[in-house]
Amino acid sequence: MPVSQIEISENLHEAIYRTVGLTKVYGEGAAAVHALRGVDLVIPPGEIVVLLGPSGSGKSTLLNIIGGLDRGTDGEAWFEDQNLADMSDAELTIYRRDNVGFVFQFYNLMPSLTARENVELVTEIADDPMDPGEALALVGLHERTDHFPAQLSGGEQQRVAIARAIAKRPRVLFCDEPTGALDSKTGRAVLKVLKEVNETLGSTVLIVTHAAATADMAHRVIHFADGDVREVIENETQADPDEIEW
Ligand SMILES: Nc1ncnc2c1ncn2[C@@H]1O[C@H](COP(=O)(O)OP(=O)(O)OP(=O)(O)O)[C@@H](O)[C@H]1O
Ligand SMILES: [Mg+2]
Repeated sequence: MPVSQIEISENLHEAIYRTVGLTKVYGEGAAAVHALRGVDLVIPPGEIVVLLGPSGSGKSTLLNIIGGLDRGTDGEAWFEDQNLADMSDAELTIYRRDNVGFVFQFYNLMPSLTARENVELVTEIADDPMDPGEALALVGLHERTDHFPAQLSGGEQQRVAIARAIAKRPRVLFCDEPTGALDSKTGRAVLKVLKEVNETLGSTVLIVTHAAATADMAHRVIHFADGDVREVIENETQADPDEIEW
């Protein structure tokens, strides 16, 4: 095999995600919005990746497509050796169920269910889940398992949402502004949990944030602007969330 082909296949093997010319256009004609303009990106497995960029630059759109919640208009979005663009809706659902956890800014907990029951929503359908109590203990909430969301602080609710997302031991954890609604102290506690998940479960953790200092804890920082990648920076060292200035 020629050297160039060996390199390509090794690179393919190393990437958990790879996009090629990934494009997303919302709407049509004069109202069309070009949210992604041909994104080429490689994400190696096992890293903490922070995605920064101005509002409207396409960060959530990218996350939603590689997370299997939405589809691109054109181009490729590979998860290991599977092109998400070629999957049926049913296959995308299985991809999400088996591999992916999501954490959003506004928690999305079921208000009528306790913390434990919110986590059980996921563990009941997962292949090899944690015990819900174990997932809640990982985020420091072992004493709050029978509380309803309304009885928990914002940071505690966010940690329940993280427990729910990690309880299935996902290959990938997608976090869209996970600290956006939190004060700095609570935000740091949440970032610590994300780092712990990366280290103990080996999950690839992708964080979209406006808190630029979060980049210091990442292995890789992707700067996004106007629907494309502007710069990718690999950090030689990763800051502890405690050291992050807000
Ligand atoms: N469902 C939609 N229909 C039409 N346009 C959309 C839709 N979702 C997003 N857009 C547009 O696509 C562009 C990219 O949006 P996106 O949500 O990906 O940005 P973002 O980088 O996540 O911004 P923010 O930091 O504000 O969350 C924006 O111009 C937005 O208005
Ligand atoms: Mg967004």
